[in-house]
Amino acid sequence: MGSTIRSQWGYPRRMVAKAVQGAPRFAARGPILTPLASGGVRFWRDGLLVSDSAGRIQFVGATKEIRKKYFGPVRDYRTNLMVPGFVDAHLHFPQTRIIGAATGPLLDWLAESVFPEEARFRRGRYPQTVAVEFVDRMLAAGTTTACIFSSSSAYATEVLFAHLAERGMRAVAGLTLMDQHAPDALLVQRGPALAACRRLIKKWHGYDDDRLRFAVTPRFALSCSRDLLRAAGRLAARHQLLVQTHIAETRDEAVATLRAHPYARDYLEVYALAGLVGERTLLAHAIHLSATQWRSLKRAGASVVHCPDSNFFLGSGRMPFKRAIAHSRALALGSDIAAGRSFSMRRAMAYAYDNARCLGVDVRPEQLLRLATLEGARALHCAGQTGSLEVGKDADVVVMPTSARVNTQAQALAALVFDTDLTTVKASFVRGAAVHMTATL
Ligand code: GUN
Ligand code: FE
Repeated sequence: MGSTIRSQWGYPRRMVAKAVQGAPRFAARGPILTPLASGGVRFWRDGLLVSDSAGRIQFVGATKEIRKKYFGPVRDYRTNLMVPGFVDAHLHFPQTRIIGAATGPLLDWLAESVFPEEARFRRGRYPQTVAVEFVDRMLAAGTTTACIFSSSSAYATEVLFAHLAERGMRAVAGLTLMDQHAPDALLVQRGPALAACRRLIKKWHGYDDDRLRFAVTPRFALSCSRDLLRAAGRLAARHQLLVQTHIAETRDEAVATLRAHPYARDYLEVYALAGLVGERTLLAHAIHLSATQWRSLKRAGASVVHCPDSNFFLGSGRMPFKRAIAHSRALALGSDIAAGRSFSMRRAMAYAYDNARCLGVDVRPEQLLRLATLEGARALHCAGQTGSLEVGKDADVVVMPTSARVNTQAQALAALVFDTDLTTVKASFVRGAAVHMTATL
């Protein structure tokens, strides 16, 4: 079935123009499910969502209410489900082609599978080829906002930003900083690395009204000298940038980290002493943190990115879900491609459920939807623009295929979070503009 634009009520164009300032960029009818900024979720079985001409949501709610105000043509998604575009708060662009490399645990997997692949991103056509696949796969999974690690190559990072700009998705991305404990081909010393960051910031940070942003991205403490971490901290402070890194993913990594940074009392302190832990910080994994570190993390107002698929695949451990909820500014979800095996945030939600269930923690599907959308947006400091389908926000919408008609909120949540056979979405929109359409559904 194609995505038809239908004049549903057949009102003349003049009346449409009166009701909405300019033609709406997006107008669609069908079941709508969204978390709300004020808490909880909202479901409209027969919903209508209409943006303004700039792609900002003007009306969202029950069709019978909104049709009193909006009379124009709408896309017909009544056999689908509309949800906010997903936020993947942690994944690695140069690992797109090594999904399924089963060489874990973490440090072995990095050495055997990741570092050789990331070394291929320094020159040539390869970064461009993979960038196309990478963005295709995110959009096909319904991810409209992502927080991305590039490789340590400035060239690859430039290619990535240029491609993100072209495709219209919303993203935060950073050059992966590493100047030690990795093959020479990947190491970039502090001077050139910081110079590359500054060039990328100048060109891309704030691009298209903040659709693209640059994040300071130390790979993890083990691969960064203290000098590099401090320079990264200064750069983040100067430009008020997001900071993304990994923390306490495995016990072996935590031990090696403190050996490499013996001046610090614990893992978090390595980052904190460099000025890298604050309200704009996203810490991925956070599995093996002490109670003291959780308290420090909370005091600093940092966010945590839960990457459950990755944690299962590499056998890294179970993230303490309750602790993370209680201590992080926002708890977001990440696919962590390619330690995670799927670009789908639906699978990430299902794995997060499994992780919590194994710990005996009750977690509701509506809470998981929140982590994959609004909490991700909060962690990325863009919850004013995206993460839920509410008036005033951007129309970042995905249209999900469903195996049966969705009539209730419980059905919508069950289908979305757990019935993950159909992970390819029908269509994705950013600011009301189509960034992905599946022709065959
Ligand atoms: N720690 C340092 N680098 C990485 C990486 O690329 N993936 C994961 N999962 N953990 C890391
Ligand atoms: Fe990662």
